[in-house]
Amino acid sequence: MILYTEALPVAAPAPGSVLDPVGPDAASIAGLTWFMIALGGLLWLATVVFLVLALRHRARRAPQRNTRGAKAFIAVWGVVIPMLVLPAVFAYSLVVGIGVSRPAPPEALDIEVVGYQFWWEVRYPDSGVVTANEVHVPVGRPVQLQLNSADVIHSLWVPPVSGKVDLVPGRENTMTFQVDEPGTYLGECAEFCGIQHARMQFVLVAQPEEEFEEHLRTLQLSSGTPDTDPERAGRDVFLSASCGDCHRIEDVSEGGMAPAPDLTHLASRDTIAAGMLENNRGNLAGWILDPQGLKPGVRMPPNNLGGDDLQALLVYLESLE
Ligand code: CUA
Repeated sequence: MILYTEALPVAAPAPGSVLDPVGPDAASIAGLTWFMIALGGLLWLATVVFLVLALRHRARRAPQRNTRGAKAFIAVWGVVIPMLVLPAVFAYSLVVGIGVSRPAPPEALDIEVVGYQFWWEVRYPDSGVVTANEVHVPVGRPVQLQLNSADVIHSLWVPPVSGKVDLVPGRENTMTFQVDEPGTYLGECAEFCGIQHARMQFVLVAQPEEEFEEHLRTLQLSSGTPDTDPERAGRDVFLSASCGDCHRIEDVSEGGMAPAPDLTHLASRDTIAAGMLENNRGNLAGWILDPQGLKPGVRMPPNNLGGDDLQALLVYLESLE
């Protein structure tokens, strides 16, 4: 049964490039990358030039043994140049590495991210907001992510924003970065973690401080309590179909039987299924009915809801802003 293949194109923004940085940390990594590309290119070019010269020399004259010249050449190219180049690359990498892993300044915003197979839980400890697969940050202010994993090793990477940092079970890693250009960036899991590793994505939204505060306030005030009769019917389906055993919704369900995204602010997110699908009614319906068809190996079981129940549930889920 394939109802929704048209909906399959990836909903998240296009992956950004390391070479197109949007913040100081990414810029220093881009600088190092260009340095290594330039140096590697230069050495490659020199090697090719010497190779061509040697072949031409060999073609013109019968091979002679010039061991002194050969020894000097090997000494320069095999010993002296690597002794200059490798420490330079090492030193530059060290400086960049120390710079991007510096401790967060006191004004940094703290966000906790927990990796799950195959999605991301996002917590803002200062405001108590818990959401999933979408990280909002203020532009021009340092952010510190506290990274942890609930199952296997994942790795968080937003190429135009910062380097990768692993999420390791039982260990807290941190990542500090700053985004200077407002925008929506694709984040990815950069450590193979299972069958849906390639589709363990999230969206990083960098917005002006006021917009960010407003967004957070909205999430903070959210409640899953339905306002209208159709929404109430949907909430009842949500509970009777056992969705609430795993998914938490503020004031409605505790969740927790198996790890699953908090749905309190589901309708505020641009994507569902960890950045894979645009958050619209068709995709939501497809996802609820047949998650294993869309993303084999995720923990969400298929649901056998009748048409009316499904519609009611969709109305309710779309009200969760
Ligand atoms: Cu999580 Cu790869």
